[in-house]
Amino acid sequence: MLKIKRGAPTHNTITVPGDKSISHRVLMLTALSDGACEITNLLCGEDCLHTVEALRGLGVSIELFPEHCSAVVHGCSGKLRAPKGDIHCGNSGTTMRLLAGILAAQPFCSRLVGDPSLSRRPMKRIIEPLSLMGAKLSAEGNNFPPLLVEGKPLQPITYQMPVASAQVKSAILLAGLFAQGKSTVIEYARSRDHTERMLQDFAVAIQRHGREISLKGPSVPQARNFCIPGDISSASFWTVAVAAQPGANLLIENVGLNPSRRAVLDILSRMGACIRETSIGQVEIGEPSGSLEITGTQLRATTIQGEEISNAIDEIPIIAVAGALAQGKTVIRNAQELRVKETDRITALTANLRAMGVGIIEHEDGMEIQGRDSLIGTHVKSFGDHRIAMAFSIAGLFATGETVIEDTSCIATSYPGFEKTLQRFSKGIVIC
Ligand code: S3P
Repeated sequence: MLKIKRGAPTHNTITVPGDKSISHRVLMLTALSDGACEITNLLCGEDCLHTVEALRGLGVSIELFPEHCSAVVHGCSGKLRAPKGDIHCGNSGTTMRLLAGILAAQPFCSRLVGDPSLSRRPMKRIIEPLSLMGAKLSAEGNNFPPLLVEGKPLQPITYQMPVASAQVKSAILLAGLFAQGKSTVIEYARSRDHTERMLQDFAVAIQRHGREISLKGPSVPQARNFCIPGDISSASFWTVAVAAQPGANLLIENVGLNPSRRAVLDILSRMGACIRETSIGQVEIGEPSGSLEITGTQLRATTIQGEEISNAIDEIPIIAVAGALAQGKTVIRNAQELRVKETDRITALTANLRAMGVGIIEHEDGMEIQGRDSLIGTHVKSFGDHRIAMAFSIAGLFATGETVIEDTSCIATSYPGFEKTLQRFSKGIVIC
């Protein structure tokens, strides 16, 4: 539980932990590579630790140094060992869906299980393409985990995706590493491209033409070291905390600025936020990154829809909080994917914002939020969802009285240390 009272930042420079999406992928690709790889600024949150344990259970040797946020992974050249029991993915959809792509090609059966939240998340979206490639997959709960994967020699496919999902795209590309020939994925809408970039960094022949991504298998990623930038999704909580607070200032150092992830910055800038990007690092290997300098102001409403949604999908909860503090009506549409995240985020955002006094209309694919000057402190739920818990922690900084967020242990899945940084924003933070 977190108890929060109004506040503004008292420290003007922070960093955020390593990017979650990139951390999962680099663990998996280094595990499949042909040698030893050192990973730095690895996110050691619970989700990524599930990926580490899953890979260890599949025979990969991983030396983990959580206090240094680093690891040395000894690649197994694509050949994993049959697990001794179930593979536990915890709350992590990325672990389950991406790993399924790799396991689809291994000569053994695996059973992937998740916590109650992950056990309600759709798996047909990966079962269908991986089955078309020749593996045998089924979900014990029809569309829902546990997920059974019987690995087979894979055929390449050309697959037109029916949803905008980087996890589905990545599962197919990872399976494609083991298929004989060219596999092609055609995206429904552009989603985060970390897998494509990283495969290229690991010397896999991969091509991108618009929404079509192709790779030629079989291919073993070449071992290399990898440094992960800070997570822009984590940075977005602090960005809103400052951007909506006239007079506040903050510098967030070393944030990943991959174009397929940075729509949150464009959206907030459209809302009037003053965000300056500085010292953008151009790297040969790895992802673009830089620092964000944010100055607070009165935000104004905007509309978020269409292609922008998949780029900003994880930031919608905190963008909705920004909308609640902006002048005018913020509209979010075409965001039905929010209903199948760690919780139904449309329902959760509607319930919590309404409880804080915000006028909100819920739609099947989004919401309309009437901004107001100040929020009303009250009890809200995390719904067991890390991003809902963090978004409403920030909302609490703008609320009268006290905001209590129940069940905040979920924050540890993606952002260890969040509460400590939050304490820099208000003297009135109690962690219970
Ligand atoms: C992720 C992709 C997104 C995102 C999730 C992480 C990834 O999910 O919401 O937090 O690392 O590939 P979808 O692929 O389901 O859109």
